[in-house]
Amino acid sequence: MSDNDDIRSRIRTIPDFPKPGIMFRDITTLLLDPEGLRLTIDRMAEKVAGDIDLVAGIDARGFLFAAPLAIKLGTGVLLVRKDGKLPGATIAEEYALEYGTDRIAIHADACAPGAHVLLVDDLIATGGTARAAVRLLRKAGATVTQAGFVVDLPELGGADALRGDGVDAFALTAFE
Ligand code: PRP
Ligand code: HPA
Repeated sequence: MSDNDDIRSRIRTIPDFPKPGIMFRDITTLLLDPEGLRLTIDRMAEKVAGDIDLVAGIDARGFLFAAPLAIKLGTGVLLVRKDGKLPGATIAEEYALEYGTDRIAIHADACAPGAHVLLVDDLIATGGTARAAVRLLRKAGATVTQAGFVVDLPELGGADALRGDGVDAFALTAFE
């Protein structure tokens, strides 16, 4: 058995979602499985290097992994939300979608300058979302050198692009 096959085998693939030709990697089956969820958080924690002050989770599926990982690492959780959802003063960043753009935001006072922030999401594809989150966190004064994902879709180049931004990106499993 290769690394994390026990996690990979719990991720379901749904063909033709959200449109024809896309093989959607569905983590809901992993979340439903207590052992799968526990293994995922344990393995992510093992990959984190050095001391982390905060875990930043990306709206929405990233939150499901960021919070338990933060508990394990003994940190709080910083929410990177779709713009317009946070009640306090925010800073926002735009990123490209296949058609159009979207915006994510954080509270402007969410992290202390120089805080070491680990970025977490369920999946990295083009990297547009994660790279915008890194820009945002750095704008807020955070030091962001690591990002963890459950799933990487390497053909879409997101993890490599993040590495080009100076972020050590890791994922538990990859689907070509
Ligand atoms: C998905 C996924 C990542 C992002 C990855 O989120 O959870 O956040 O897309 O794609 P990218 O690397 O090409 O940016 P989505 O925007 O679908 O939001 P959701 O978690 O609310 O479903
Ligand atoms: N699964 C889940 N989220 C996604 C995917 C996928 O295959 N591709 C882009 N976002």
